[in-house]
Amino acid sequence: MKQGLVLGIESSCDETAAALVDGERRIVAQRIASQDDAHRPYGGVVPEIAARAHSERIAPLVAAVLHDAGVTLAEVDAIAATAGPGLIGGVMVGLVTAKALAMASDKPLIAVNHLEGHALSPRLADAALQFPYLLLLVSGGHCQVLRVGGVGQYRRLATTIDDALGEAFDKTAKILGLGFPGGPAVERLAREGNPKAVPLPRPLLGSTEPHFSFAGLKSAVLRAKQAGTHTDADIAAAFQQAALDCVIDRTRRALAESGGLTALVVAGGVAANQTIRAGLEALAAEFGLPFVAPPLALCTDNAAMIAWAGQERLALGNFKPDPLDIAARPRWPLDPDAAPVRGAGVKA
Ligand code: KG4
Ligand code: ZN
Repeated sequence: MKQGLVLGIESSCDETAAALVDGERRIVAQRIASQDDAHRPYGGVVPEIAARAHSERIAPLVAAVLHDAGVTLAEVDAIAATAGPGLIGGVMVGLVTAKALAMASDKPLIAVNHLEGHALSPRLADAALQFPYLLLLVSGGHCQVLRVGGVGQYRRLATTIDDALGEAFDKTAKILGLGFPGGPAVERLAREGNPKAVPLPRPLLGSTEPHFSFAGLKSAVLRAKQAGTHTDADIAAAFQQAALDCVIDRTRRALAESGGLTALVVAGGVAANQTIRAGLEALAAEFGLPFVAPPLALCTDNAAMIAWAGQERLALGNFKPDPLDIAARPRWPLDPDAAPVRGAGVKA
C-alpha cells in the first residue's frame, strides 16, 4: 500500500538523504549519500564543500528514491525537508529542493526542525512509544535533554555549556589521530583499552545545575596524549567512560526532576554508541522506565526521520503546510522558551 506517503529530505550537515515513509511507519525507500570522503582530508565538515556536494547530489537522490519505491511525485502526499538548524548552505539546498518539488506537484511543504526529526525518530521505530518521554539528544552539534510532551511540545531541561557530546568524540578522535568521523573510531579503539588507566575529569558531575560540559574533558584528553605515557586505546577507553559517567549523572538528574514519563529515549548520532546505550538502559531500569533507542541507521542523520516528523505533523488535527517563502535557519531551538546557554547551539 502506498497511501499517505511523505517524502523527506535531509541536508543539514554532511549527509545528503531522501526517504519515503508511509503513514504506517514503513520506510518505503531511502538513500543516504555520505560525504565522509570529501571532508576527511580536513578532519571535519567543511561547510562550503558540504553545500556544493548537497547541490550536486540531491536531485538524482530524490529521483532514485522515487524510482526505488516505484512511485511518482504525484503519488506523494507531502514534502518534508530539514529547514534548520545546521550548516546554512546545506540546509538551503534541501529546503529549496523541497519547495521546488512542492510547487511543481502542488503538494504541501513541511519545514522540519532537524532536532524534531531526531526527537520523533524513536516513534518511527516503535509504534508503542507514547508521550511524554524524556529524550537525550546527543549528536555532533547537540547535547540536550528534552521532555517530549507531544508533537511540537518540547521542553529543554538541559543542554551543553560548551561542546556537544559527538563533538567531544570527534575531537578525541582527532587528538588520537583516528580520522573522521571520530565517534565510531573512538568506540572501536576503546574496546581494547582500560578505562581506569587514565584519570580524566568528569565536568559538572553532581552539579545542581542541569547542564552538560565536555570542553574540560577534551583538554584533559589532549594533555594525556601529550604526556606520552598512555596507550591510545587506554585514552579512548578512559574518555568514553568519563563521557558516559557525565551523561548518566546529568540524565539521572533530569529523570529525578521529571514525573509521569513513559520512557527514557536516546536519539542522535552518539546513540549509536553501545557503551552509552548500555549505561542508559541501566539508568532507565533504575527509574523503572522502558529504554528506547532507535536502530543505528535511524540514530545518525537520515531523511526517514524527517519524513516521519512530516507524518506526525500531517496527523495533527490543525495541520497547516508551511509557506513557500519560509526561511532556512542556521539556529532554531526546539524549545524557544529555554533560557539561552553560552556555547549551546549548532556545530561551529
Ligand atoms: O546525528 P548525527 O549523525 O549528526 C548531527 O546532527 O550532528 O551525529 C553525528 C555525531 C558525530 O559527532 C559522530 O562522531 C557521533 O555522532 N557518533 C558517535 C558514534 N557514531 C556516531 N559517537 C560515539 N560513538 C559512536 N558509535
Ligand atoms: Zn543530527
